[in-house]
Amino acid sequence: MATKHILIVPGDGIGQEVTAVGKKVLDKIAAKFGHTFTYDTALIGHVAIEATGSPLPDESLEKMRKSDAVLFGAVGHPKYDNDPSAKVRPEQGLLKMRKELGLYANLRPIKLFDELLSASSIKPEVLRGADILFFRELTGDIYFGEKGRKNNGDTAFDVAEYSRFEVERIARKAFEAARTRRKKLCSVDKANVLETSRLWREVVQKVAKDYPDVDVEHQFVDALAMLLIKDPRRFDVVVTANLFGDILTDEASQIAGSMGMLASASVGEGTGVYEPIHGSAHDITGKGVANPLASILSAALLLDISFGLKTEADTVISAVDAVLKAGFRTRDIADSTTPASKVLGTDAIGAEVLKHI
Ligand code: IPM
Ligand code: MG
Repeated sequence: MATKHILIVPGDGIGQEVTAVGKKVLDKIAAKFGHTFTYDTALIGHVAIEATGSPLPDESLEKMRKSDAVLFGAVGHPKYDNDPSAKVRPEQGLLKMRKELGLYANLRPIKLFDELLSASSIKPEVLRGADILFFRELTGDIYFGEKGRKNNGDTAFDVAEYSRFEVERIARKAFEAARTRRKKLCSVDKANVLETSRLWREVVQKVAKDYPDVDVEHQFVDALAMLLIKDPRRFDVVVTANLFGDILTDEASQIAGSMGMLASASVGEGTGVYEPIHGSAHDITGKGVANPLASILSAALLLDISFGLKTEADTVISAVDAVLKAGFRTRDIADSTTPASKVLGTDAIGAEVLKHI
């Protein structure tokens, strides 16, 4: 029986709605398996800026450091997207959280639930059985290098930088994971153009010598973007840099049916953070239609990775599977064959998952 303290950080937009459902799932698991989970909440993103002026107040960061795990929602607000001159932005809170907690490895499992074969715009026969685990490096690259303007503001730059140790630690995590899976690793870079990518490839080749049982391939990011859609089943573990990983995992969400299905785990030195890969989706905020399954599956990753509660995590995943098998869908994963009575809102599909736990 475990006693754990979980910090709920809903953030902005639908983050609030889906994280509330994720928390209910954690509660239900605690009750079923006799664990004690205590909770606190913290601000991040636009809501934090409104309340404190900062996208990640020190108080939130302190609470994160003291927690056993963080269940996170999303950050963002359209008002900043249309105002490139804004100095303080919600996303800065997210990036600071990743950096401060040393969360250099972002795991994004792409697994298609069979029932969702028709939710994707990719042909079912191409998709069936696809199961990919992305390792996106999360605290380096163009995201964190020097950025600025010159020539009176007429020229802008963002510097991409990687150090050997940063590539090595994410590569090792990816190789370790490949060992427990189908023993295939694809490292993605742009080594034909970028110096950071040449260092990346050099380090991955070196680390590969310690994992002779893992079959390694290197792909350029443009080719990988194409192969992912052409033949997703050829991939097992994919490891890549921060920006490439950001882009490729949104693309890969179509392999899992919808962005609304994809969970992620950010781990490294400090407290692990678990979050959907989707954003704050202000266009549907407050309507009660957001898909909470990515938050629920993030809760499953939290149980598994931060708490080592594998049976509990599997219970959550099986419950999601059962709800999909029973024909229930949120709007984003429904199709023309879904009867209107089976299209549920955020709380209602969450309640179905709870029933199956
Ligand atoms: C993600 C998001 C973030 C990122 C944004 C919100 C800063 O797209 O987690 O994939 O680019 O990392
Ligand atoms: Mg992204």
